[in-house]
Amino acid sequence: MRRLLPLALLLATPLAAQQGPPDSLVNTTIIPHDTPVQAVISQMRVMTGALGVRCTYCHVGTEEMSIWDYDFVSDEKPTKQKARVMMAMVNAINGEHLPRLAEFDAQGLEVTCNTCHRGVALPVPLEDLLIRTWVDSGYAAMEARYDALRQRYHGRAAYDFGEGTLAAVGGFLFDRGAFADLLRIDLKNLALFPNSGQAHFLTGEAQLAVGDTVAALGHYRRALELNPRNPIALRRLEALAPGR
Ligand code: HEC
Ligand code: HEC
Repeated sequence: MRRLLPLALLLATPLAAQQGPPDSLVNTTIIPHDTPVQAVISQMRVMTGALGVRCTYCHVGTEEMSIWDYDFVSDEKPTKQKARVMMAMVNAINGEHLPRLAEFDAQGLEVTCNTCHRGVALPVPLEDLLIRTWVDSGYAAMEARYDALRQRYHGRAAYDFGEGTLAAVGGFLFDRGAFADLLRIDLKNLALFPNSGQAHFLTGEAQLAVGDTVAALGHYRRALELNPRNPIALRRLEALAPGR
């Protein structure tokens, strides 16, 4: 038995480290079995990039090991099993659903992992992520999360850092009656987009919600300078400062 071997003998005969990719596929149920291993590795690299992860996200292994010593055959990680479901889904979209389009262009766009994932493992719209953080951990955690994600992903396709995102979060906070947090998020959006008529208008709405009509008035005026055809801003101005 192996564990009865003297330690010195074990140390003298280390298992030969695998030098390169495996010779053949062992445990594939989605990728056809006769696919060249090199093509599979290329496909795996594309998937890895689309999700913004490393091979170890799905395969058993550590960063310290040689990649070719990973246990690619094992189905231990739930992420690998989920990835299989995803691969089957993508095959079905491209193979069954898209060809049913009346004017299907076979040379046209194919759905890939990146169509949805865009560099992150969980393809969640940024406003949903922020709202979830607010519900779980409150305003400060949400703002910290936004700043951290912006720092890391701004300029990439992963998340939308346009003014619509925090405006959507504000819409949720308004519906919840969380007016103090609504004002904070609208002021943050305004600081990021100081020349946006919509950001001024929304800040006016938030100031009105917390009862600061003087501040609200200023923002409605600025909103109308930037976008003279905002009908609600006009109406608010008329109500707060009639005849002006
Ligand atoms: C998002 C999950 C995911 C990532 C990341 C990933 N793989 Fe895979 N890999 C899979 C799945 C799922 C299979 C099995 C596919 C099937 O069943 O057809 C697989 C199969 C393989 C196989 C074939 C194993 C066998 O049974 O013969 C190799 C080799 C492999 N991957 C290498 C890699 C390498 C190298 C990387 C990093 C560049 C990587 N994978 C990253 C999910 C992943
Ligand atoms: C149509 C959009 C779409 C496409 C295309 C897509 N995914 Fe996903 N993927 C999702 C969604 C949505 C989730 C989150 C599911 C959930 O609620 O857990 C997800 C989750 C995953 C997860 C689980 C992440 C985790 O940490 O739990 C993996 C792994 C994954 N996808 C891999 C892939 C791979 C690999 C491909 C390409 C073969 C792919 N996905 C293509 C939408 C997509």
